[in-house]
Amino acid sequence: MSEMPPRALPLPEEFAVVLNRRAARLDGFASRVAWYDTVTSTNDLADRAASAGAPHGTVVAAEAQEGGRGRMGRTWYSPPGAGLYVSVVLRPGLTVAQGRPVLSASSITLTAGVALAEALRSATGLPAEIKWPNDLVVGRRKLCGVLAEAAAAAGDLQHVVLGFGVNVHLATYPTEIAERVTSIEAELGRPVDRAEVFAEALACLAERLRQLSAGGFGGILDRWRALSPTSTGARVEVLTPRGWRAGITTGVDADGALLVTREGGAERVVAGEVRWL
Ligand code: BTN
Repeated sequence: MSEMPPRALPLPEEFAVVLNRRAARLDGFASRVAWYDTVTSTNDLADRAASAGAPHGTVVAAEAQEGGRGRMGRTWYSPPGAGLYVSVVLRPGLTVAQGRPVLSASSITLTAGVALAEALRSATGLPAEIKWPNDLVVGRRKLCGVLAEAAAAAGDLQHVVLGFGVNVHLATYPTEIAERVTSIEAELGRPVDRAEVFAEALACLAERLRQLSAGGFGGILDRWRALSPTSTGARVEVLTPRGWRAGITTGVDADGALLVTREGGAERVVAGEVRWL
């Protein structure tokens, strides 16, 4: 028997107010927000909602996650009320042309990185940068991650669940990640309104996803490059089938793959593991 889903709560008033203020920019996106107290993973609930027909732009958000997931099988530390744990159902014209989806999970993922970097900048003034593929960092410390999970049936993309986590308030992180993570408040040294970051993130996502659907991936990629100085000229290690190999980043190609040159070869990293040295 499948587990009973948790019960959705009303969207807290302070979040509803700032979301309403951005109604014109949202243009119907995020018109449904399912808000929860504690869940395993908002991506799981959003995927369930999408499979039951939830429309493009449906949002699932929680105060805490007990099984928050990151990329590459990692966990996403999600303490209560300290961050934003948000997943959005996307169905933006997921048609197939010449055997390839017009909008791939990877173009959506890069678009989300741009939108979230811009949202953090405009909502708080924090100059967050993108680290390939879509981590948001300040210096070497990460404060936001994106996990896009696609559902396909008979080879066709049905929907994408775009999950993002943002460390907003000061929090104590587990020792194994404490040196590599930060929060908006830790960087700015002042309190930050979590609701403003939430609403601005959704408004920026809505705008950039409309641009993507209208064929604007080239412009988004240009913006991505400008927000990601470490995608060129940085020393990295790439996990190849033959183990970790050191090299220098030389940019991203038209599909958003990271290019790395190294002694004796070059790597085109599509979804792999990259360590910054
Ligand atoms: C990463 O950087 O590895 C991606 C982290 C993504 C975390 C978010 S939090 C909301 C959504 N639900 C999850 O379980 N993961 C994503």
